[in-house]
Amino acid sequence: MKILIATEKPFAAEAVKRIQQIVENAGMEILLLEKYTDKIQLLEAVKEADAIVIRSDVIDAEVLNVAQKLKIVVRAGAGYDNVDLQAATARQVVVMNTPGQNSNAVAELASGLMVYAARNFYDGTSGSELMGKKLGIHAYGNVGRNVARIAKGFGMELYAYDAFCPAEIIEKDGVKALSSAEELYETCQYVSLHIPATVETKNSINYALLNKMPKKAVLINTARKEVINEAELLKLMEARPDFKYLTDIMPDNDTEMKEKFPKRYFTTPKKMGAQTAEANNNAGVAAASQIVDFFLKGNTKFQVN
Ligand code: 3PG
Repeated sequence: MKILIATEKPFAAEAVKRIQQIVENAGMEILLLEKYTDKIQLLEAVKEADAIVIRSDVIDAEVLNVAQKLKIVVRAGAGYDNVDLQAATARQVVVMNTPGQNSNAVAELASGLMVYAARNFYDGTSGSELMGKKLGIHAYGNVGRNVARIAKGFGMELYAYDAFCPAEIIEKDGVKALSSAEELYETCQYVSLHIPATVETKNSINYALLNKMPKKAVLINTARKEVINEAELLKLMEARPDFKYLTDIMPDNDTEMKEKFPKRYFTTPKKMGAQTAEANNNAGVAAASQIVDFFLKGNTKFQVN
């Protein structure tokens, strides 16, 4: 069995070693394609693979069509919007993710972005504190829960809206569950996004919703760029000089945002929420173990298609 690690944004070296150990102990072989710059390299590499471990790497119908031996794709991470599930199912390829394995890393980054916003991008001027401020957690999954845990330490007032998570689960953590996104944005000066990119959520964070936020609003995005209506966010930031947007996923209109709002807009150069040795180890080891368990025991826990 050949297990391809295809990561345009590579894991920490230690994580690759650990994956290799797990795979080789099971009598399987590792193929490594890191930092590739062209899809052609991926198309070539997948031809030999029985399994693939990926991050945000795109596995579409074209990739699946040339991967004739492929039986399983594991997205080492949470969001699997980069995999064409329909095409995978049609080819009887199992797709899994590794939920929860990198969520603390993402939550720490989101929290750091909140501090960066409150302290005026560390520009030396007098900023504000997070203590006592209202934080709205938009979707209460693994990352949202970790954000709540950290924000409690800051002394923030916590609110969450999640269309699928029962209110009792949210409130057990000392977080007030609200019944709509509108109510969340109306209530909270800080909002941290943790929704996946789906047909329903794409472009859903729009002018009308964001304009409900109170004065000195701060929107933190460590989720996906696709959930933001970028043109409307830009318009809103023009209309509201009090509004800040900090993101871990560079928008398509980055140049214009940078030019127009140098003190209110920040993006990381490359998505780095899950870029820690710990998260890479956790997600990488989970992915390798899931593949070995799938081949040796037929275990399909964490299958998403
Ligand atoms: C995830 O969905 O797990 C995160 O967005 C991390 O993505 P990455 O592995 O591409 O950094």
